[in-house]
Amino acid sequence: DQKKSLQGKKIIVTAGATIERIDPVRYLTNDSSGKMGFALAAAARDMGAEVTLIAGKTTVPAPTGVQVVRVESAQDMLEAVLQRFDDTDIVVKAAAVTDYRPIDQAKQKIKKSAAEMTLTLVKNQDILYTIGERKTKQFIVGFAAETERIDEYAMDKLKRKRCDLLVANDVTEEGAGFGTDTNVVRLYDANGLIELLPVMSKQGVAREVLLRVAERIRKGAQM
Ligand code: PMT
Repeated sequence: DQKKSLQGKKIIVTAGATIERIDPVRYLTNDSSGKMGFALAAAARDMGAEVTLIAGKTTVPAPTGVQVVRVESAQDMLEAVLQRFDDTDIVVKAAAVTDYRPIDQAKQKIKKSAAEMTLTLVKNQDILYTIGERKTKQFIVGFAAETERIDEYAMDKLKRKRCDLLVANDVTEEGAGFGTDTNVVRLYDANGLIELLPVMSKQGVAREVLLRVAERIRKGAQM
């Protein structure tokens, strides 16, 4: 029964945008709405999985029937994922994680003064890379948001971050990427491109992706 093909599986889905505070009232972030991650969490729930949804800043309500953990920064998201990682079967990283954060976070609101100001940023630890290194039994699905050279960058991310499956979206494409209700994705495994899915609702994309995850886990378990 395809409908309950993730029955008994524990899954972590990350969604939305992380934010990096500059001072108490300002931050760096991106355009992720959370729709893609939320659709994945809802689809996993409908397929019988026990879902933990780790979400940053989002513009739509989270699905019901899943455990929701709210986080702010990339560091918070990393900790929330690692805390639960050893005990999970599947991780899907749909969140748009901030790659850099301000080196210091001002305790007070920064006052306007000089005509120019410089903000020094430092790199955040890569969550997907970290769990890729740590994985034992976990099936890991990464995302790649690209604006050019999709196949090349997607495969680089899949290999470097040791994903079992990678979902790439060209975020410049009509109906794809940040904020939209639809997405257009390509799927990759270690052998390369496996599928180009047509434009679909994010719910549709989520279901297609998770059906393939369930099938791969089932086949792996048989071997
Ligand atoms: O939320 P929506 O508005 O519905 O938009 C959906 C989406 C465009 C955000 C989604 O489809 C998507 O592409 N998510 C991944 C966005 C992203 O950060 O891509 P990336 O190519 O920069 O990162 C590659 C992968 O590494 C991602 O799985 C990301 O979660 C992960 N990453 C990145 C940086 C970091 N420090 N830690 C990470 O785990």
